[in-house]
Amino acid sequence: MCELPLPRKPCERIKRNSLILHLSSLKWEALNSQPDRYHGKSLKMNSTTTPESGAETAAVILHNVNKIYRLDSVDVPALTDVNLLVRPNRFTVLSGASGSGKTTLLNIMGCIDNANTGHILVAGEEVQKLSDDALSDFRAKNIGFIFQNFNLLPVLTAFENIEYPMIMAKVPPAKRKRRVEKLLNAVGLSDRAKNRPGQLSGGQRQRVAVARALACKPQLVLADEPTANLDSQTGTAIIQLMRHMQRAYHISFIFSSHDPKVLAAADDTLFIQDGRITSVKRCDDLAETSV
Ligand SMILES: Nc1ncnc2c1ncn2[C@@H]1O[C@H](COP(=O)(O)OP(=O)(O)O)[C@@H](O)[C@H]1O
Ligand SMILES: [Mg+2]
Repeated sequence: MCELPLPRKPCERIKRNSLILHLSSLKWEALNSQPDRYHGKSLKMNSTTTPESGAETAAVILHNVNKIYRLDSVDVPALTDVNLLVRPNRFTVLSGASGSGKTTLLNIMGCIDNANTGHILVAGEEVQKLSDDALSDFRAKNIGFIFQNFNLLPVLTAFENIEYPMIMAKVPPAKRKRRVEKLLNAVGLSDRAKNRPGQLSGGQRQRVAVARALACKPQLVLADEPTANLDSQTGTAIIQLMRHMQRAYHISFIFSSHDPKVLAAADDTLFIQDGRITSVKRCDDLAETSV
């Protein structure tokens, strides 16, 4: 293990002797040139290490990921040679123009789409090795999603929308009720529990979606342009809420956005252009790192 500089900010509570620190401090070039060192079980948290000791598992690692869509017998490359390490417990923004590959990348990180080539680790799990059933189970337990158009079920109330993923995960009713009430309170909607989405404003719907994403206590929340359909003021309030929830629940949040307000709230920013990660900016970096 090479010697590494001590963390510069309080958010860097990682121990020097941790492999994960080694990983999360690497420059992208190193990840590219020595990929085999950063794969497989070695990326998982050491079984003797507790979270309190400060060691962390990377939220997501992608190695040489490529995604090509086939449209009317034409190949459309959406992601090209993506190498990424997303740090855990951070508010990470994926920034890029429309068509740059943000949604595709989030879908692959969220295990709702497959890459054509490459290796993918989510919360330390080699997700490509899981069977369909095991992958569904992994996704339900570990990943929450927030969408641009909220994707709430229109016939269910706010309470029921938040409860729904817990029913799928077979959480007992009394526990579900306690969790929904806590989340409704956390997103400021306790008095709207019985409202259906059609009876809520856009901002309130997105608050319900934030609560739903957190229902099963995921390790990772993925949000695809969550403020795109909201006015500026409401969008700012939603970002603040998400930032608060990310810190309060110690979750890794990854957002796609080109909204300057979202970028300003980020710990780490990943810049994507034409399906390639072009640079990475981290909260403890003095400058952006070009890939
Ligand atoms: N289902 C699809 N079939 C064919 N091409 C697609 C499909 N989804 C996305 N693409 C193409 O892949 C590229 C990346 O798209 P996307 O990930 O949606 O970008 P973004 O979210 O940054 O706007 C674009 O060129 C887009 O046209
Ligand atoms: Mg998109």
